Parts: sequence; structure tokens; C-alpha cells
Amino acid sequence: METVESREERRGVAAILDGAHVAEEIKRDVARDVEALKGEHGVTPCLVVVRVGEDPASAVYVGNKVRTSEELGLSSKHLALPADTTEVRLIGEVTGLNAREDVDGILVQLPLPKGIDERRVNEAIDPSKDVDGYHPLNIGRMTLGQPAFVPCTPAGIMELLAREGVSVRGAHAVIVGRSHIVGRPMAQLLLQRDATVTVCHSRTPDLAAHTRRADILVCAVGSPGLIRGEHVKPGAVVVDVGMNRLTGEEQAREFFGEDSARRIETIRKRGFTLVGDVHPAEVSRVAGRLTPVPGGVGPLTVAMLMRNTVTAARRRRGL
Ligand code: GUN
Repeated sequence: METVESREERRGVAAILDGAHVAEEIKRDVARDVEALKGEHGVTPCLVVVRVGEDPASAVYVGNKVRTSEELGLSSKHLALPADTTEVRLIGEVTGLNAREDVDGILVQLPLPKGIDERRVNEAIDPSKDVDGYHPLNIGRMTLGQPAFVPCTPAGIMELLAREGVSVRGAHAVIVGRSHIVGRPMAQLLLQRDATVTVCHSRTPDLAAHTRRADILVCAVGSPGLIRGEHVKPGAVVVDVGMNRLTGEEQAREFFGEDSARRIETIRKRGFTLVGDVHPAEVSRVAGRLTPVPGGVGPLTVAMLMRNTVTAARRRRGL
């Protein structure tokens, strides 16, 4: 049984689980595939990203997606619609994109403004162009282990674990968060790789009792620093999906310990710094490996979106 002393003895600094590095590898593979598609078949995969309204975080994410598409040789278009766009108009735009031969991937950036039903919008996207993997047909296929577009964040995390040599088979994986975008698909993908999976959420009593049993802990709830040292089994692999904006200098000191001077400088320059769902200073002393925020899971999501778009371009043409 683990004692306070054994926890103390293990204290060190977790190795970085380098999402940014793995994302670069994936993007290199995608760029090569795009070259080949162009050279051999004259096909340039095309992604259209639709954004409604002016959510500042969404604007940054969409900018990243469009820029990365261009860097890798894909063609990409950004359709920015005003905040007062109706659901009918948005679905009309999606239907138009479904019908266009030159469009391979469609992504409608979430969250959508109030009054627009995300479910109806996702269901309007042609499943063969659903590079986000949010259409019920793709979710069903993924759950059954059939070929499908898999949501980019959990797909990226699986790729990270595989490429970084983290053994999933037989491991106890605990996921905190049950969202349709991350928690649920993550559970399915880990299960398909023979992990024993526990999903925790906002109604789970005694969260730490579950998370402390995790060999692999994935946190995706959007609650800054929720996961503390006491939640983590010594040596565990911890994947932090959270991307929360932190504006207070005092909080930055509390979260980042030795690294706080650099973070405070970022707050003074940009108005915020990013912190995940994991308390970085505490958890890095207990975990074996930990994804940083930023530079962990975020870049993987974009890389997998590029890969899904190339897959869509190939499948739609039977290549
Ligand atoms: N909002 C935050 N992440 C994502 C994503 O991966 N896809 C979409 N469509 N919206 C998001």
C-alpha cells in the first residue's frame, strides 16, 4: 500500500509528454500525403472552417486551423458568419458545402451562439465530410470499431500515447469529463486498445479515489487546476486537455511555482496565460509524464484535423 513517505520519495519532476513534437511528426506525414495526392491524382484536399460570431478563443483556434492547412499544402477556406446568424441559415450554408465537389472537409467551430442547436448542425454535415467526427453516424461507427472519422482531440491523444511508447493494453485509464467531444470518444478508443476504463464526471463522489488508481489519467473538464497532486498515482501518465484562460497574477504564482515569473509576464503582455485542468506545479511532482499546457494536446488536435481532411479527400474519390 502506498504511504505518504513513498509518495514523497517519488517526488521529482514529471517528464514532458511532448504533444507539440508528435504533432510536428504527424503534420510532416500529412504534408507528404498531400504532395502525393497532388502529384499522382491532381487532388488538393480542401477544408472549410465555419465560425459564427466573435468568440475570441474560437477565433484563435480557427486561425490556427486555417494557417496549418496552408502550411501543409491543403486548400482551406474560413467562412465567418455574424453572431446573429440563424440556425436555418447556418444549416443552409452547411447544405451548400455538402453539395460542393471541391470541398472535402467541413468543420463548424463550437461553441455556437445561443439559439443554435449544435446537434442539428452536426447532423446536417455530410458524414463523408465530417472531419470533426461529430456526426452520429461517425460516432456510431467509431464506437463499433468500424472505419470512421474520429474526433480530433481523442484521436490525437491515442496517437501521442502510441508514438511516445505509453502502454495502453491492460492499463487502468481514468477519464475526467464525459463530453461528446473528448471524454466519451476517449473512453471508446482506450477500450478498443484494451485499457480498463473509468469515466468520472461532475456527479462522481470522491473523485480522487478514482483518479489515484489511474495509470493513464485524461482530464477534460475545463476547470483550471482541478487535478491536484493528491489526485495522481505516483508515476502515472497524465494528459491535460484543459485550456483555461488565467488572468490573475496571484493564481499564476499558485499554479506555476518556479515557472510563475514567465507566466506573469505573459499575463501582463497578453492579458492571460493558459492553464489546464491539472495543477501543473503539484502534479509534475507526482506524475511520471505530463502533457504541458500550452503545447501538449492543442497542437495534436489540429494535426489530426489535417489528417482527417486528407482521409476525406481520398475516401470521397475512392483512393
Ligand atoms: N471547439 C473546441 N474544439 C473544437 C474542435 O475540435 N472542433 C470544433 N468544431 N469545435 C471546437
